[in-house]
Amino acid sequence: MSSIVRAGIAGTGHSTPPRVVTNDDLAEIVDTSDEWITQRTGIRERRHVDEGTNCSTLCIEAARNAMEDAGLEPKDIDLIVVGSLTQDHLMPSTSVLVQHALGCEKAGAFDVLAACTGFLTALQTAEAFVAAGRAKNVLAIGGETLSRYLDMSDRTSCILFGDGAGAAVVRPLEDCNQGELLRHSIGADGSGYEFIHIPEGGSVHPHNHPEYDKSNHFIRVRGREVYRFAVTKMSELIRDAAAATESGEVDLVIPHQVNMRIIEGARERLDWPIEKFFVNIEKYGNTSAGSVPIALDEAARSGRLKKGDTVVLVAFGAGLTWGATTLRW
Ligand SMILES: CC(C)(COP(=O)(O)OP(=O)(O)OC[C@H]1O[C@@H](n2cnc3c(N)ncnc32)[C@H](O)[C@@H]1OP(=O)(O)O)[C@@H](O)C(=O)NCCC(=O)NCCS
Repeated sequence: MSSIVRAGIAGTGHSTPPRVVTNDDLAEIVDTSDEWITQRTGIRERRHVDEGTNCSTLCIEAARNAMEDAGLEPKDIDLIVVGSLTQDHLMPSTSVLVQHALGCEKAGAFDVLAACTGFLTALQTAEAFVAAGRAKNVLAIGGETLSRYLDMSDRTSCILFGDGAGAAVVRPLEDCNQGELLRHSIGADGSGYEFIHIPEGGSVHPHNHPEYDKSNHFIRVRGREVYRFAVTKMSELIRDAAAATESGEVDLVIPHQVNMRIIEGARERLDWPIEKFFVNIEKYGNTSAGSVPIALDEAARSGRLKKGDTVVLVAFGAGLTWGATTLRW
């Protein structure tokens, strides 16, 4: 049996659409205000795609940036894993559109659906393929166009989400000497599947079903229930990840950008300084599977991540699903 290959993150990239939607813009559509949204969520603006830009468009650009950062060509890529819940089509997968557009001729491709945990699931899958020696260079991507599933008359959900994608190239550590992937955790509790979901449009109620309800083909969120779960789960995952490091110390947490109060609630439980948390929610809102990799790329490119830093990536979302990855930058 072959031995386990240690894997690292060789490069990162992201892509967000240019159109900015501010809280004031939303206040013209629903009964809300910049003050309410900022205080309750920390979000000041988010990006929405225009017609002609799709989930795959953002994933392709994020992947291109990550490959460039890693110094790799499309021909070098063995596998593409996309985490998304807003794939361009019900089938085939967004990953094959990425594969075709980038010209990754020898790459296999598939999607994973774990909602806001989508990127961490893709990243952990990528690491598993590299660790097993089944692939050398893997693109792990998380991307969404959730604006396409927003009910713009529902103020409890339409303010929360934005569009964007991020990507990472996973390689054997000996080839990249960076971002060593140290430890992963993943979990789910399907009893909470209705907390965050899109009720219509799947194979239970496809658009031609007699009971298909067009007015419910949107993302629905039971915010208060998710809030309670999220604060507890985020602090638990970070505490477990920290406890499993050699020193028990973490330099930076890159959390799912879900709600500033949820991040703050987890921080309080851990009694850690806010400087240990990377936050960009004010610019993008919750981009679901795009959230962690966009933040990772911004942290890397801005110099916030330093060589040797111990970093915890943490996310949770619809399912319910959750996951964490610890790495040494
Ligand atoms: C949605 C969320 C921001 C709501 O914040 P909250 O402090 O829990 O607010 P509540 O739901 O208790 O609502 C408080 C009041 O504000 C109102 N409200 C809700 N959205 C509002 C908005 N956009 N603008 C103004 N008022 C709003 C509610 O109707 C409620 O009014 P009431 O007291 O008269 O009934 C918060 O619960 C959250 O972020 N939850 C997690 C979201 C989620 O699931 N994201 C996806 C997970 S990955």
